[in-house]
Amino acid sequence: MKIIEVADYRALSKVASEIIIKQVQQKPNAVLGLATGGTPIGTYRYLVEDYQKNQTSYHKIHTINLDEYIGLNHEDSRSYSYYMNDHLFQDINIPPEQTILPNATNSDCQKESEKYEERIESLGGIDLQILGLGENGHIGFNEPGTSFASKTRVVKLTESTRNANARYFQSIDEVPTYAISMGIATIMKSKEIILLVSGKNKATILTQLLTSNITEELPASILKTHPNVTVIADKDALSLT
Ligand code: F6R
Repeated sequence: MKIIEVADYRALSKVASEIIIKQVQQKPNAVLGLATGGTPIGTYRYLVEDYQKNQTSYHKIHTINLDEYIGLNHEDSRSYSYYMNDHLFQDINIPPEQTILPNATNSDCQKESEKYEERIESLGGIDLQILGLGENGHIGFNEPGTSFASKTRVVKLTESTRNANARYFQSIDEVPTYAISMGIATIMKSKEIILLVSGKNKATILTQLLTSNITEELPASILKTHPNVTVIADKDALSLT
């Protein structure tokens, strides 16, 4: 894993956006794997700013998101579908049918998960995958203990993840318990991966990640075996290393 150390969240967002823009310029029909959560918001802001200034075009790009909560539809402001429209899709020229998230309102989420895998395959796989890091080491919603061979499927969220995400809900009781998440094997098939890590609350897990063996107890540790992973981390996240 290559590590890029940056001063702060703003710099992390800028560097990440530059990598994505370069990918879009080099391959105008690229498939981008996208994450939600707090970390990539600044990156998406820079993509929108660049689009407005330079008209970098997304009209042939496909995006595939990592995950979606089960039970929230795309009009629910806490769904990841809503988040993606709000932070990125509505402000760039990507056709809505090319923005792909798991349909977690489907009555058969297992079938939806299988279809999701097929969809990724049919697009030729993910060229550049953006990841955030959970405080428990998860990537996507692949919680500690997940098999490295896992594919897209229904997952149960741990209490630590539900607590970490409760800030977007009125109370912890409203945080969904299940989600559809891309699997670890699915993520690992991406040609290039960038892992964004920002803030003091990520310092402990980032230190563990950088020093640990490769173990399913720390899902992100598998990234060490991927040939093209860049970790972009700010000083706060690296403060314990
Ligand atoms: C989001 C996702 C998660 C987050 C992780 C970090 O689509 O799959 O793995 O990337 O939980 O979240 P933040 O950025 O909110 O700290």
